[in-house]
Amino acid sequence: MSHSSTNLQFIVQPGGSLHGNVRVPGDKSISHRSIMLGSLAEGTTHVSGFLQGEDCLCTLKAFRSMGVDIDGPTDDGKVTIQGVGLHGLKTPVGDLDMGNSGTSMRLMSGLMSGQAFDVRMTGDASLSKRPMKRVTVPLASMGAAIDATETGTPPLLVHGGRKLQGIHYDMPVASAQVKSSVLLAGLYAEGTTSVTEPAPTRDHTERMLRGFGYAVKTDGNHISLQGGGKLIATDIDVPADISSAAFFMVGASIAQGSDLLLEHVGINPTRTGIIDILKLMGANLDILNEREVGGEPVADIRVRSTQLKGIQIPEALVPLAIDEFPALFVAAAFAEGQTVLTGAEELRVKESDRIQVMADGLLACGVDAQPTPDGIIINPGNFTGGTVDSHGDHRIAMSFAMAALCAKAPITINDCANVNTSFPGFVELAARVGVRVVTASA
Ligand code: S3P
Repeated sequence: MSHSSTNLQFIVQPGGSLHGNVRVPGDKSISHRSIMLGSLAEGTTHVSGFLQGEDCLCTLKAFRSMGVDIDGPTDDGKVTIQGVGLHGLKTPVGDLDMGNSGTSMRLMSGLMSGQAFDVRMTGDASLSKRPMKRVTVPLASMGAAIDATETGTPPLLVHGGRKLQGIHYDMPVASAQVKSSVLLAGLYAEGTTSVTEPAPTRDHTERMLRGFGYAVKTDGNHISLQGGGKLIATDIDVPADISSAAFFMVGASIAQGSDLLLEHVGINPTRTGIIDILKLMGANLDILNEREVGGEPVADIRVRSTQLKGIQIPEALVPLAIDEFPALFVAAAFAEGQTVLTGAEELRVKESDRIQVMADGLLACGVDAQPTPDGIIINPGNFTGGTVDSHGDHRIAMSFAMAALCAKAPITINDCANVNTSFPGFVELAARVGVRVVTASA
């Protein structure tokens, strides 16, 4: 069951409510991109609020091993990057280990396609099962040469020294990782590289490229750039990750008597599906002190508990809340009335099959949860508690930790070490605001 030799467990006692002020760690998507673009820029980039999770550290180490001088992260999340320019990377010694991080592997596939040298990228057990054809196919049509396993999974060998040609790519899946991979390869391609997306996805790559002085055109669902430009170093203030804040939004919504303030949360409109869906369920969320920090909108979010109601989740909101469904399923399990999700087959190819793994976990806790090919049907009530296997998926583990706030019996969550990929310090922070969680090794 466990992917690592020891099984880190979360043991969560039922009850409690959430109070106080919390700043969750930095945004994972923005932290990855800050290292990538900072490394390829001309000049020194200063990053603050960097997420010191294992995923982003994989990206950081990859660029270090390609000769980029990167200082930090310091304890308070400062990173200083001496950019080497788009053509200044050196051949790494050995493979680039992307750990659990799909974002690193997919975005780097695009960037590495434009280099003069070969790179081999590997990942952990979960990443080694995830689909990469979604990036290797469009990149190959630009002239890249990437070897994968027969089924299109990692490890990936990206051959260097290829001449890339700009393409237009009509994306079959709404994926920011695919969009970003193609656009980043486009920096090295001749002419125009463009994509159309079937639904809006997170636009951090486009925003940050513009922050580094690189022209990117967005016209509705059509995004394009010209190859052959350059990136100019800039400073990046990474907001708190709305995907990490989501667990606390759900926890404070379901746990009676809660009143929690989440500070400095990134509220980029391509990420706020969690807020919209919780509001449709009747949640009491106040978006306060809206401001813009380094090209990204930020706010404080006050969450007070309320009785949620089950809903049919609008499909248009799925890509805008793609990482938040494990937490939302927990919210649905304590709502009044049925919740139905459709149009979310992408959840089956995340760090785990989040439809199946969440359904199994909810069932183990006594809840009627029926997986469907592209979603789930949750009939709330009877959340007793029990033992849940997170399958090494950080977001599954953190979601069930919040569920204990309203469960009737303790919840034991297995295989939780990967919470460190996106949310170092989760247990301490959750305990500080009122979750009755401790860790154990089994
Ligand atoms: C991410 C995009 C999303 C998301 C992932 C991070 C990104 O993946 O699930 O956690 O940083 O671009 P898809 O774009 O494949 O949906």
